[in-house]
Amino acid sequence: MNPDTIICTCNEISYGEVEKAIREQQLKTIEDVGDATTAGTMCGGCVDEIYLMLEKINGKVEL
Ligand code: FES
Repeated sequence: MNPDTIICTCNEISYGEVEKAIREQQLKTIEDVGDATTAGTMCGGCVDEIYLMLEKINGKVEL
């Protein structure tokens, strides 16, 4: 995945930005990612992708 690819078109947040925030701030939930990056806070269309990123990086997702 190209880190510059946009994951959240509503807020123009890239995969790289979300990944960096998850790793550096030890984000655990979709809500954490929204608070840290604004990704997923508008239409919600990217939430599934954010979920997959949390799962990939953390091994699980806290709901
Ligand atoms: S695409 Fe992320 S909230 Fe709409």
